[in-house]
Amino acid sequence: MKKVLLGAAVLAALAAGAVQAQVPADRSIKYRQSALTIMANHVGRIGAHAKGERQLTPAQLELSAQVVQDMSMVAFDGFIEGTDQSSGATKAKPEIWKEWAKFKGEQTKLQGETPKLLAAAKANDIKAIQAALGGVGGSCKSCHDTFRAQ
Ligand code: HEC
Repeated sequence: MKKVLLGAAVLAALAAGAVQAQVPADRSIKYRQSALTIMANHVGRIGAHAKGERQLTPAQLELSAQVVQDMSMVAFDGFIEGTDQSSGATKAKPEIWKEWAKFKGEQTKLQGETPKLLAAAKANDIKAIQAALGGVGGSCKSCHDTFRAQ
């Protein structure tokens, strides 16, 4: 009985952590770079498909678009104050934390575009995929131009 209760407490704690999406500061740089790398890889796969350079199955297409959407929702949890360029191997400009509302706006813009890509992938509609890729790519660039060091 005690074990069951303890298990429930651990689960509740995990759930609370997931809701708050807390990332320890010392691991946050690795976390965000990994998530952004995975996101970029799957944008690339869909992009290659859209250009006809690579043929993804409908299931692969949908999986990649789902990954892109999911990463767009969690990658930015890794931007924790104190982890800008001066803290080590990162290209995160200090402006991120000085202009937090603007940075948040750039995230929201991307998070508004990735569901469109997923819907287009689910429909396996190549024209819609190409259009959605344009919106997604524009959001990446817009944020990088302002907040990522070259
Ligand atoms: C809200 C701002 C923002 C948006 C939107 C954004 N990025 Fe980034 N991205 C950054 C910042 C800041 C860094 C630098 C992170 C670091 O070095 O810690 C970065 C880094 C990266 C990296 C390098 C990761 C590494 O291992 O160093 C890749 C790849 C990347 N982004 C791809 C993308 C793609 C693809 C998109 C769009 C689908 C995107 N990003 C959208 C801000 C953004």
